[in-house]
This record gives sequence, C-alpha cells and structure tokens, in this order.
Amino acid sequence: MSRLMHRSRSLVTENNPKSAVSEIYRSLRTKITFSNRDTALKTVMITSALPGEGKSTTAANVAVAYAQANKRVLLIDADLRTPVQHHIFELNNDRYGLSTALAKHSELDAIIQQTRVENLYVLSAGPEPNGPSELLESPEMTALLEQAKARFDIVIIDTPPVMTVTDALIVANKTDGVVLVVKPGKVKNDTAAKAMAALEYGQATVIGAVLNRAR
Ligand SMILES: Nc1ncnc2c1ncn2[C@@H]1O[C@H](COP(=O)(O)OP(=O)(O)O)[C@@H](O)[C@H]1O
Ligand SMILES: [Mg+2]
Repeated sequence: MSRLMHRSRSLVTENNPKSAVSEIYRSLRTKITFSNRDTALKTVMITSALPGEGKSTTAANVAVAYAQANKRVLLIDADLRTPVQHHIFELNNDRYGLSTALAKHSELDAIIQQTRVENLYVLSAGPEPNGPSELLESPEMTALLEQAKARFDIVIIDTPPVMTVTDALIVANKTDGVVLVVKPGKVKNDTAAKAMAALEYGQATVIGAVLNRAR
C-alpha cells in the first residue's frame, strides 16, 4: 500500500472530521477524558490482542481528535518492532526516535517531530533495537513518560499486540490507562478476553475496549 493511501485511509479525523467515524473517535476521546474522576489521566496506551486489529489507526485518530480539541498531544510509537506512525504522519524514522531516546537518554524536545496537525507531536519508534522489551522496561522509559506528562496535556501510546510479545504489558504497567482495540471475530473475541485478563493480571488500568470495524 502506498504511503498516501495509508494516510488517507487511516486519518479520517483529519481528512473528514465531520463524518460519523470521526464522531466515534471524539466519543472515545471523551470516554478517556472522563474515565478517571480523581486525577487527570495523562498517559493512555492503545493495544489489542493480535496484530492488525487497528491499534495504530485508533491511536493516530484519537491523537488527532485530542489535538482538534486544542490539547497539546504527544503520540509515542512504542511498537518498536512494527512501527507505522511515521508512515501515517509522513515523518522521519531512520535516525532517531523512542529506541535511540531510551538508549542514549536524549532530551524529549530534541527528538519529537511536529506533525501537519496543529498541537500534535509524534515521537516515532526509531531504528529497530536489539532488545525492545528491555528498553521499554528500563527506568529511562519511566523517566521519558514523566517528561512527556510534564510537557503535554495528553500522551497517547501505540504498542505491539498483547498476545505476541511482552512489550505491551510492560508499557501498560507504566501508563495511566489502557484501551483495548478489538476487531470482532470468533477467534479474536476469545483472544481479546485473554488479553484483557493478561492486562488485568499485570495490574494495568484498562479503561475500556473499542470495537473496530463493527457494524
Ligand atoms: N476502522 C478501519 N477502517 C478501515 N481500515 C482500517 C480500520 N482500522 C484499521 N484499518 C486498516 O487495517 C490495517 C491494520 O490496522 P493497524 O491500525 O495498523 O492495526 P494494528 O496496529 O493493530 O496492527 C491498516 O492497513 C489500517 O489502515
Ligand atoms: Mg500497529
């Protein structure tokens, strides 16, 4: 698929903000905002049980929806194995990103990229590292998220699937809330339940589940 197709298919909130689908992403934004009554929820991770369920698409559109509400948004691509946010937003990912930030302790301001959407910044995944799980588990990741929280109104994090690698559970432990994207289907419904159980067992705060491409 060409970059352009990826972009126009993925970013309905940017290309067609008045559509019914964009309204769904806005209601997800509202749900995230009001999911925690005590303290403001600042870091939200988007995941799913399996690949291809729509995590990255959901993360990008929710990030745009927040930016459209005049929030300063940072979208972090923490899928260090199969990153796509730099494709969706047509950004650079060859030299630096989350992987190099964690390995080299870079300052956040030096490595985030401004997008064509006002108020929306992306920290792309960066070159694929040797040990992605270890990087995500490091104290540097915790420190980077603290920096991001201080500088942005909301931080949206795209991640790998829960059932294939341990990365998502690691990141879930460091974030305020988790949204589980579910593409309906017999096998998928079952793995979604397992993913939910794994997240809860790992002490993650699951805000809710989103059905992607449901009728
Ligand atoms: N709601 C949707 N409508 C149309 N296409 C979608 C939708 N959600 C995802 N896709 C497409 O499905 C593919 C996989 O989505 P993606 O968000 O990359 O999944 P994941 O990050 O879970 O692997 C992409 O080509 C994406 O453009
Ligand atoms: Mg993805």
